[in-house]
Amino acid sequence: MKPLQPLLLLLLLAAVSASPLYPKQLKALQSLNIPTPTNDPCNNNSSSSSSITCDDASPYRHITSISFINCSPKLSLTYKTLKPLSKSLLNLSFTNCPSLSPPHHLPITLRSFSAVSSFLHNRRSRLSGLFLARLINLQTLKISSTPISTSRRLYVILGNMHKLTSLTISNSNLSGLIPKSFHSNLTYIDLSNSSLKGSIRTSLTRLTNLKSLNLSHNSLSGQIPNSIKNLTFLQNLSLASNKLSGTIPNTLSSIPELTHLDLSKNQLNGTVPSFISEMKNLKHLNLADNSFHGVLPFNESFIKNLNFFEIGGNSELCYNKTVIPTSLKLEGVAPCDKYGFPLWSPSEKEESLSGENDYGDYGGGGGNEKMTEKKEEHNGSNKTLFGLGIGLFSLVFLILFLFYVAKRCRWI
Ligand SMILES: *[C@@H]1O[C@H](CO)[C@@H](O)[C@H](O)[C@H]1NC(C)=O
Ligand SMILES: *[C@@H]1O[C@H](CO)[C@@H](O)[C@H](O)[C@H]1NC(C)=O
Ligand SMILES: *[C@@H]1O[C@H](CO)[C@@H](O)[C@H](O)[C@H]1NC(C)=O
Ligand SMILES: *[C@@H]1O[C@H](CO)[C@@H](O)[C@H](O)[C@H]1NC(C)=O
Ligand SMILES: *[C@@H]1O[C@H](CO)[C@@H](O)[C@H](O)[C@H]1NC(C)=O
Ligand SMILES: *[C@@H]1O[C@H](CO)[C@@H](O)[C@H](O)[C@H]1NC(C)=O
Ligand SMILES: *[C@@H]1O[C@H](CO)[C@@H](O)[C@H](O)[C@H]1NC(C)=O
Ligand SMILES: *[C@@H]1O[C@H](CO)[C@@H](O)[C@H](O)[C@H]1NC(C)=O
Ligand SMILES: *[C@@H]1O[C@H](CO)[C@@H](O)[C@H](O)[C@H]1NC(C)=O
Ligand SMILES: *[C@@H]1O[C@H](CO)[C@@H](O)[C@H](O)[C@H]1NC(C)=O
Ligand SMILES: *[C@@H]1O[C@H](CO)[C@@H](O)[C@H](O)[C@H]1NC(C)=O
Ligand SMILES: *[C@@H]1O[C@H](CO)[C@@H](O)[C@H](O)[C@H]1NC(C)=O
Repeated sequence: MKPLQPLLLLLLLAAVSASPLYPKQLKALQSLNIPTPTNDPCNNNSSSSSSITCDDASPYRHITSISFINCSPKLSLTYKTLKPLSKSLLNLSFTNCPSLSPPHHLPITLRSFSAVSSFLHNRRSRLSGLFLARLINLQTLKISSTPISTSRRLYVILGNMHKLTSLTISNSNLSGLIPKSFHSNLTYIDLSNSSLKGSIRTSLTRLTNLKSLNLSHNSLSGQIPNSIKNLTFLQNLSLASNKLSGTIPNTLSSIPELTHLDLSKNQLNGTVPSFISEMKNLKHLNLADNSFHGVLPFNESFIKNLNFFEIGGNSELCYNKTVIPTSLKLEGVAPCDKYGFPLWSPSEKEESLSGENDYGDYGGGGGNEKMTEKKEEHNGSNKTLFGLGIGLFSLVFLILFLFYVAKRCRWI
């Protein structure tokens, strides 16, 4: 009798691990047209349009995460269908669901919410800042290429999200200032490509666990705060394409793990600080299109060690030919004369580039490269036009010739 007991237990365990999905949730999925193969959508066999994760509870499993991808235009998320899912749902994400309307109610228990290129078509029902603000248990919030309506202010959205660690609101419609304070423990912030104004507030530099900060493509002004040094874990910093002025603060030198620094397309001035070349982990450095002057304090080995380096578009800046050989071909920088001024002013080039700059806002590349690329494109399209012309001409000629031959043949 006794040896049978472990076997029974095993059988029981096997039965438990295969416990079915909670019936009401299964129905809800079916009403959303989510395929439920063998009535078990929990096997994480993501179809093209959705992917689902469940817990391991018994007697029924529950859905913990749903990702909608490339939604059908017919999909709609009603209160009725979402309610049975609400109790267990922790993660909800939408990717490329442009014609969908955002659901009216979401479970307050959500830990992660993501909307990428979604909720675009219906102007009257867009993702609202107030709606997001209710999700106070979020750890991850990601809104990208998705417009936000009614209250696009960050302080409203984040007001009660004390658990947030990762925040992305990019290519969206955020406006207003950076909040005076953050009540959370953020490690990742991407607020790029919105309409943020005002200064880089010190509220950000109090987020001492930050590893990545992207505020690029906004309208931020003022100086980079000295307290930036408090972000000792920072690895990626992009403040590109804003209206920042003043110098690069020396305190930046005490961020040991900085690997990615992009300060391009601002109005920063002063000299390029030499401490930058002492930053051991730096791999990506973009200081292009500012107002830096003087002699570039970098040598060949430092520049060669970077994966990415741009410095063009600083008209008063020059490099020392005895330290950096011309073979390095620094885009858009002139060599220095013996007094430390540019040998030739890149103004001629600048004139032709300045028209290009508005254009180049979306790219990261140097103006010079873009210029040649564009010219080639232009030449290319001229060539294709020419080719097409010749082609058409030949075709017409051929038809006329065949017509003539055919006529001749009939005559014979
Ligand atoms: C579920 O599938 C996704 C990719 O579709 C994968 O990244 C994830 O690790 C899978 N999760 C589990 C628990 O198998
Ligand atoms: C996913 O589904 C396909 C067919 O629908 C099946 O062949 C495959 O074994 C499944 N994979 C997993 C990991 O369940
Ligand atoms: C749910 O979101 C959390 C972050 O809040 C993440 O760590 C976890 O991997 C996500 N789970 C699934 C299944 O997507
Ligand atoms: C900024 O966002 C707009 C849409 O709001 C998009 O068209 C554009 O490509 C984005 N630019 C960058 C640099 O991501
Ligand atoms: C973004 O907000 C501005 C007002 O601040 C509005 O004029 C514009 O239409 C909005 N864009 C989108 C895509 O909703
Ligand atoms: C912030 O995060 C750290 C570790 O990531 C944790 O120890 C700390 O308790 C968190 N603080 C708050 C206020 O959540
Ligand atoms: C910052 O955001 C911009 C625009 O969204 C993006 O192109 C860039 O790669 C981001 N940089 C970093 C370091 O994440
Ligand atoms: C930066 O850190 C210093 C001490 O490490 C502290 O005195 C100062 O208040 C901090 N500043 C900000 C804005 O976080
Ligand atoms: C920093 O950016 C690089 C490349 O842009 C990326 O691979 C890395 O994961 C980012 N690090 C953080 C902490 O976001
Ligand atoms: C740098 O810019 C600031 C403010 O824009 C200005 O006050 C300062 O004089 C400038 N410094 C130099 C050296 O051009
Ligand atoms: C180049 O600069 C780095 C950092 O300033 C320095 O450690 C290195 O010795 C220099 N190399 C040469 C060849 O001067
Ligand atoms: C260029 O470098 C050489 C050798 O280090 C130095 O003697 C010279 O003064 C530098 N020129 C300028 C303009 O800084």
